[in-house]
Amino acid sequence: MKKISLTLILLFVSFTGSYFLVDDRKAEAANQAKASCQGCHADFTKVLPKEHPPVTENDLSACTSCHTPELAGKAVKNAFSRRMHLAHILPSGKQDCTTCHIWVPGKSFGIKGVKGSLGTPSKEDVAMMQEIFASWGASNFTDNLHAKANIGCTGCHGKTLPKADDTVENGRCLVCHGPMEKLAQKTEPKDFKDRNPHKSHLGDIACKVCHGSHKASKVYCLDCHKKFDMKIQGAGATKQ
Ligand code: HEC
Ligand code: HEC
Ligand code: HEC
Ligand code: HEC
Ligand code: HEC
Ligand code: HEC
Ligand code: HEC
Repeated sequence: MKKISLTLILLFVSFTGSYFLVDDRKAEAANQAKASCQGCHADFTKVLPKEHPPVTENDLSACTSCHTPELAGKAVKNAFSRRMHLAHILPSGKQDCTTCHIWVPGKSFGIKGVKGSLGTPSKEDVAMMQEIFASWGASNFTDNLHAKANIGCTGCHGKTLPKADDTVENGRCLVCHGPMEKLAQKTEPKDFKDRNPHKSHLGDIACKVCHGSHKASKVYCLDCHKKFDMKIQGAGATKQ
């Protein structure tokens, strides 16, 4: 009796074992199919913008042949990059970068089918980027105002992939928003001309003191001047 139940248990264990193995393989195959563009887009023509030139192949290299990636880190707009990232950001923020990127943690982070690497991010670095991508895609902060204007991470952070404690100097912002005098002219209030956020007794201070890129912006002047009526873009909470 004892012997029979033992055999039964053994049989059961080996059966469920191989069952899970088959299940694992199926899941892996499904993941691989999903990881290529085709897993989700049987036909690209449906998702490409109207009037777009025809694309015959079905992986990322079909795109990068014309949309040569910008690896130099210039402060420019890139509508292709913006739409590719924005369309694939999951609400959870956990989108899989490796659908399109080849990533060896701590060693390289490239673009499939393209030579060169954007940096050497660790697992923690990529987790942080994923979180910030979600903010860039859907927050009410300055990062989302830039996503809408076709400006990605590179536009502000330059050539190297951003990581913890990185910042962006005023000079980089002013490549697009400067010179400072012109910016100050734009924001000079009509009624109280000296209540100008960009020209005050504070002198030159970091843009990020008021403009939070991945967090809410706030008007620092109001810390001391409670009665000034000043508003700032990107001050909202996260979108519902
Ligand atoms: C996990 C599923 C998935 C994978 C893999 C995937 N996509 Fe998408 N893609 C989507 C979804 C969802 C949308 C949004 C669809 C919509 O708006 O109708 C989208 C949208 C797009 C758009 C439209 C963008 C826009 O702004 O209108 C393009 C182009 C695109 N994908 C290209 C690609 C390419 C190229 C690949 C492979 C490198 C790829 N996708 C891989 C799910 C996927
Ligand atoms: C034969 C060359 C060619 C190929 C291949 C190509 N594109 Fe384009 N694409 C263009 C041109 C030209 C434009 C319009 C000018 C521009 O925005 O660069 C464009 C524009 C776009 C835009 C719109 C940018 C905007 O203004 O909002 C998206 C998105 C896009 N392409 C996605 C893709 C994707 C995804 C692939 C690969 C599946 C791809 N393209 C392959 C030539 C190409
Ligand atoms: C659907 C494809 C796709 C997915 C998913 C994707 N990327 Fe990209 N990514 C690209 C392409 C294509 C480029 C090159 C764009 C260019 O320079 O024209 C790029 C470029 C970049 C750049 C540099 C250029 C820029 O626009 O700032 C960064 C940083 C980047 N990706 C990070 C990520 C991270 C982090 C993830 C995951 C959270 C991710 N990407 C997911 C396609 C993708
Ligand atoms: C409008 C310009 C701008 C854009 C676009 C932008 N960033 Fe930033 N980012 C900044 C600034 C400024 C800081 C420094 C914030 C500070 O010091 O308070 C920063 C900080 C960071 C940090 C360090 C955060 C920390 O807490 O240590 C990371 C990581 C980062 N950005 C990633 C990204 C990624 C990924 C993208 C693209 C999805 C992106 N950024 C797009 C301006 C930008
Ligand atoms: C690559 C160019 C570029 C860089 C670099 C850049 N921006 Fe922008 N920024 C834009 C564009 C384009 C817009 C969209 C509105 C517009 O066209 O002025 C914008 C929008 C804004 C807005 C909202 C303006 C409005 O009217 O809604 C603020 C605030 C801002 N940027 C601040 C910054 C700060 C601070 C930095 C540096 C951390 C920075 N930007 C870096 C191009 C850039
Ligand atoms: C002391 C706080 C403060 C600092 C520091 C600051 N800003 Fe601003 N910024 C503001 C406020 C407040 C507004 C909204 C003013 C308005 O719209 O009239 C604003 C608006 C802007 C706008 C939108 C202008 C428009 O067209 O309406 C841009 C772009 C901008 N800031 C860029 C910068 C850059 C770049 C720096 C750094 C060189 C910077 N700011 C430093 C408070 C600040
Ligand atoms: C750390 C506190 C502090 C901050 C931050 C600050 N101020 Fe002031 N400000 C003062 C003090 C103190 C005075 C002189 C006493 C007074 O008249 O209230 C003053 C005076 C002024 C005056 C002349 C007096 C008045 O009330 O009209 C203006 C205008 C002014 N500040 C504008 C600004 C602007 C614009 C900013 C942001 C760019 C700013 N201040 C940020 C402390 C501050």
